[in-house]
Amino acid sequence: MDLFRKKSVDQLVSESTPLKRTLKTFDLTMLGIGAIIGTGIFVLTGKGALTAGPALCISFLLAAVCCGFAGLCYAEFAAMAPVSGSAYSYAYLAFGELIAFVIGWDLILEYALQAATVSAGWSGYFNKLLEGFGLHLPVELTAAYGTTPGVTTYFNLPGFVIVLIITWVLSIGISQTKKTNDIMVMIKLAIIVLFIVCTVWYINPANWKPFSPYGIYTFQPGSTQPYGIVPAASIVFFSFIGFDAVSSSAEETINPNKTLPRGILISLAVSTVLYIVMTLIMTGVVPYKEFANFIDAPVAGVILETGLNWLAFVVNLGALIGMTTVMLVQLYGQSRICYAMSRDGLFPKLFGEVHPKYRTPFKGTWFFGILTAIAGGFININVLFELVNIGTLSAFIIVSAGILWMRKTQPDAHRGFRAPGVPFTPICAIIFCFILICGLNWETWVRFAIWFALGLIVYFVYSRKHSALNEPGLF
Ligand code: ALA
Repeated sequence: MDLFRKKSVDQLVSESTPLKRTLKTFDLTMLGIGAIIGTGIFVLTGKGALTAGPALCISFLLAAVCCGFAGLCYAEFAAMAPVSGSAYSYAYLAFGELIAFVIGWDLILEYALQAATVSAGWSGYFNKLLEGFGLHLPVELTAAYGTTPGVTTYFNLPGFVIVLIITWVLSIGISQTKKTNDIMVMIKLAIIVLFIVCTVWYINPANWKPFSPYGIYTFQPGSTQPYGIVPAASIVFFSFIGFDAVSSSAEETINPNKTLPRGILISLAVSTVLYIVMTLIMTGVVPYKEFANFIDAPVAGVILETGLNWLAFVVNLGALIGMTTVMLVQLYGQSRICYAMSRDGLFPKLFGEVHPKYRTPFKGTWFFGILTAIAGGFININVLFELVNIGTLSAFIIVSAGILWMRKTQPDAHRGFRAPGVPFTPICAIIFCFILICGLNWETWVRFAIWFALGLIVYFVYSRKHSALNEPGLF
């Protein structure tokens, strides 16, 4: 049996699509920024600052460079095969079915757990906002079980509810989603610019010294967690995840050959500039060790240090909106991956059924939306984000290797966009991804290996037998 049977570019592109084409460059850029700026900057910068000190901005740069190289590879694939499924579809093209399935399985982990992780961060900011109005939800229902030391918590109710609301919005169609997303992303950007303009005056350059207290990579006595610029980059890498979701919308994009690469690269560039400016300001206003005092809401903590309490309220609201758009795009991306896998027979047909009225993969969207809501309600955010990072880094490695392979095996295939600097660009992407994987905990590697093994079982028990490539004469 041929585990590496492939599709050609023409086969992928000719697979008819019943989805509506409505997205342009602006919408894709908004979709990208919507997916990128969220929990990473609003929550994980606290942990990042404690791990790298003021050199956190270098960690952001390192993660951005990694994503930039991988982004160029994604853009080439997206323009070559503008179909739903992102890295999953690209792997089908370059490496064949088994690797494609593995990467699709990996992306499900990435998107579902990411939305679940973000829903936990969302819940924290939501509670802060309510507290501003003197309202307090029962603490037992505001976080997953056992996530807050010294406090009894059982379930993250606000996170659970917001995921269900987003699932409903997604299930009724892309045009509603697009408008909602565009407006929310504009508000999010405006609030970040407001944060920068209002807090930049409070920088004390003395807080930037020492600039890199832990160097590149080190262990502190009595701690198993690595410190320094690389481990912090492995944490804040989470902040950049999302630009790849843009390529999942290829089948709903007008003129995807040009629009997709532009959407990916512009959204990545805008986010990188904002992150670097924000982290320079944050570590300039507050000595990095003090981030331990507001680890769950570092941006709000920095503002409170400046005494601008009105700004804290506005930014809390912005953080909530920011995280909402992240979940929106991730859940959207996930339903499209499942749609593509189901169409190929690797997942049950249920996930690929398009709703006659809304023209969306309605059942698949609801199935995974509910699972994500449950995961966000019960699972610890700190375990999850590392798992998301390793899953995404693995997808980046496969996509980058795919570009090298395709340039060698199909040099003449039509490419609407060619990544510059090949083979240098994909090789650098792969090296940077490995460096960032090395900055993660070994427990994360083990958990990822278990998920991977589970995927192989599903492939050999179900997907292999039901693959559309089994039907003679179909491809
Ligand atoms: N990049 C997204 C975030 O930071 C996942 O929330």
